[in-house]
Amino acid sequence: MQQRTIHLFLVIMILSTPLRALSAGLVLQCATASPFVNYQRRQTGLDAYIETQSALSIKGVLANIGPDGSKVAGAAAGAVIASPTKFDPDYFYTWTRDAALTYKMLVERFIAGDSSLRTKIDQYVSAQAILQGVSNPSGGPTTGGLGEPKFNADLTAFTGSWGRPQRDGPPLRATALILYANWLIANGGRTQALNTVWPVISKDLAYTAKYWNQTGFDLWEEVSGSSFFTIAASHRALVEGSALATALGQPCNGCAAAAPQVLCFAQTFWNGAYVDSNINVNEGRSGKDANSILSSIHTFDPTSACTDATFQPCSPRALANHKAVTDSFRTVYPINRGIAQGKAVAVGRYNEDVYYGGQPWYLTTTAAAEQLYAALYQWDKLGSLSVTSVSLPFFRDLVPSVAPGTYAKGSATYNSLTSAVKAYADGYMAVVQKYTPSNGALAEQYEKSTGAQLSARDLTWSYAAFLTAVERRKSIVPPSWNEPANNIPPTTCSGTPACNARMTFNVRIRTVPGENIYVTGQLTQLGNWDPNSAQLLSAGRYTDSDPLWSATLDLPSETVFEYKYIKKTANGQVVWESDPNRRTTSSAGCGSSGTLNDNWR
Ligand code: NOJ
Ligand code: NOJ
Repeated sequence: MQQRTIHLFLVIMILSTPLRALSAGLVLQCATASPFVNYQRRQTGLDAYIETQSALSIKGVLANIGPDGSKVAGAAAGAVIASPTKFDPDYFYTWTRDAALTYKMLVERFIAGDSSLRTKIDQYVSAQAILQGVSNPSGGPTTGGLGEPKFNADLTAFTGSWGRPQRDGPPLRATALILYANWLIANGGRTQALNTVWPVISKDLAYTAKYWNQTGFDLWEEVSGSSFFTIAASHRALVEGSALATALGQPCNGCAAAAPQVLCFAQTFWNGAYVDSNINVNEGRSGKDANSILSSIHTFDPTSACTDATFQPCSPRALANHKAVTDSFRTVYPINRGIAQGKAVAVGRYNEDVYYGGQPWYLTTTAAAEQLYAALYQWDKLGSLSVTSVSLPFFRDLVPSVAPGTYAKGSATYNSLTSAVKAYADGYMAVVQKYTPSNGALAEQYEKSTGAQLSARDLTWSYAAFLTAVERRKSIVPPSWNEPANNIPPTTCSGTPACNARMTFNVRIRTVPGENIYVTGQLTQLGNWDPNSAQLLSAGRYTDSDPLWSATLDLPSETVFEYKYIKKTANGQVVWESDPNRRTTSSAGCGSSGTLNDNWR
């Protein structure tokens, strides 16, 4: 047995030597033939690579969007196909998350001046309006169906088994569309914002306000629990969504109330050293996961002051986390061996990953760069950089002599820290450059010992992620989502989903002056059957012909409850209605309303 192993090993050794020589020869041969081959690309600097790769990446994105994407024939208008690969793995579907992150990039690019994208953006809006109406295994349009992770390329439901629901889709899509709606409002398109875009956004916000506190599958579609990425995306969408609602004079029921609660919950993922990306689940992992780096870059606010609570790119916590997550990949991938802390490495999803053998991904490697570019932008705007005890280990990897303190822009320490961070960020882009094949195609993954492309080819999200990292590198940033005014979580979190229905209680009963009618019952809002905490009805519309007592109350939506009316006489005596208790269900949907028309019994 042992002998055979040795033989095999020798055969591989012998075979691999000429193979290596052969492939080196091939590379050299190609170098003269094509401008994109490895040999020549490695000779070109990072800036030149970034220019070439950016042009290829925007083409790569557009080739994967229907109806005219060159690589996705048959895809509906506005449908972002994750990858043209149909087998091993089959990614010929539209994922709500991938599509939203792709369009977030496209809308940012549109706002920055690429007006050619307008039609594509409008097609996305229409496609999402259709998808929101498609009943699917996660539910119907108002009963959870928006949490469905992926649909067929023709916008019909995918009914196979899958990790569902995934609750990051609706808030991410809301964010992409809010960027567009705000641009429309500022550029003479208020009617379109109100009539076409807001209806899609408002449904996503209603979903988010209603379900943020329920568990679901993480962005990697593997574990069902509470995912930091989902919570971070939900907070941002609710904050900017309620501001947009106000601007449009529309209700966003539960948005403003839920946002601080979501932020409160987000704090519980911080374990003192890094973000534990998945909680409320026993997934048996450390929790160090690019989930958290992606959260930071997708909730980046260029006007923020490095807030820990919202995990801003330049915040001490997010920097400590950057180190924890990136360090976790240093030993697991052979291509990272020997690379010291503080030098860029190939980054994957999380180091316990086994999907395709557990490999580095392009979109997580560019994310590691993007967080640092975004942080550099924030320090520059703030005019200073603070090193705290939390972020010190991150900075010490780059500048070993640094001490905690606040360093003003222009000071020697500020300059040395920011140039080290810039070089470190560029290092991650250089890793991507090193493992980009000669034609510039970006698959989902690259192999951990050879750097060869792996899994789905031409992954839309890989291209989109490359482009946002490059934008931040060039200091092109999205508009603020008003993070600075929304970064203080309440001191105690309330887990109650803030999704209310406005229920009107009408009861007809003849009363005499001094008598009052109340409603009480099984809900906190109804005083839990305690007559002293019952809700008073109003006789404002009481007439002889219509002895109406009425009250409108905010109750948890879609909730079954029992209730009764009571009468309190002038001398305080309580008269209950006769049995049995009344029983009803509050109306479904955040901000929905319902009316109960009862006669006193
Ligand atoms: C497919 C998912 O897209 C991927 O993220 C996951 O790792 C595998 N299924 C295995 O569960
Ligand atoms: C698998 C990834 O884990 C998931 O995040 C992504 O949405 C799908 N692939 C499609 O790209």
